[in-house]
Amino acid sequence: MAKLRPSIEHVGERLRGAKSVVVLTGAGVSAESGLRTFRGATGADLPPDMRALWKEFDPQTLATPEAFEADPEKVSRWYDWRRRGCLAAEPNPGHTALAAMQRGVEERGGSFTLLTQNVDRLHHKAGSTGVVELHGSIIVWRCAGCGRRFEPGAEPFERHPAPSGCRHGAAAILRPDVVWFGEALPEPAIRAADAAVEECDLFFSVGTSAVVFPAAGYLLLAARNGAFTVEVNREDTPASGVVDCSIRGSSGEVLPWIVELAFGA
Ligand code: OAD
Repeated sequence: MAKLRPSIEHVGERLRGAKSVVVLTGAGVSAESGLRTFRGATGADLPPDMRALWKEFDPQTLATPEAFEADPEKVSRWYDWRRRGCLAAEPNPGHTALAAMQRGVEERGGSFTLLTQNVDRLHHKAGSTGVVELHGSIIVWRCAGCGRRFEPGAEPFERHPAPSGCRHGAAAILRPDVVWFGEALPEPAIRAADAAVEECDLFFSVGTSAVVFPAAGYLLLAARNGAFTVEVNREDTPASGVVDCSIRGSSGEVLPWIVELAFGA
């Protein structure tokens, strides 16, 4: 029997009645803020400077501990270039809608957890609270030796000082506080995500290609636990065939619409 395709209106109703909501976001949510995704459409509709990063750069030489060990300067320069792009970016209507979604759910006594694979801090900038950063943050850097964290200013990498109090001083090796391929996700993030996904009755997967685990596994876990699952993406992903409702479109258009349907805001 063909699977019924719930409408966006139905998703709005689900959101209005949900007791526990989890949203997982990926790079697509920040695309409308001018930040490049890693995969997905290189489409003719996109300007060349919005091409997916992993179509232009090799993650093996930039996003692994081995790459950093082999060429720390190259890796740091690349991440610093992206860091400065993130600092300059502003939240778009998709980010704002997620902050409004959180307020709507919490004002009605429900719980809301935003899990993000994004390292750009745009959800924070849009007003979301308690954001679980599964892949860390590119805005924060740390000494690879002693783990001290700091937030560099707007100046490029060559001029970042070591974090204050770092015992390595000028010899400190600075790295972005992101999770690289082959590294474990931060323990507190895993604990928070596991607990939220375990109890949620509504799960959104937004702007993610749903191919990078363990993050992509949260949708499967939520579905197995009986949550109603929704995907918002510009194109099909491996999650599209799994979710209860797959909505094709940009998060900056679809999310405000869902929030308006649910809470009239
Ligand atoms: P990807 O770049 O893999 O996927 C972005 C997804 O967003 C694609 O499926 C696009 O179709 C979709 N998309 C693009 N623009 C959109 C829009 N305006 N609205 C809705 N969807 C849109 O990004 P992630 O899934 O976040 O990890 O990637 C996961 C991880 O892989 C990243 O955190 C990063 C990367 O390698 C590390 O660097 C460790």
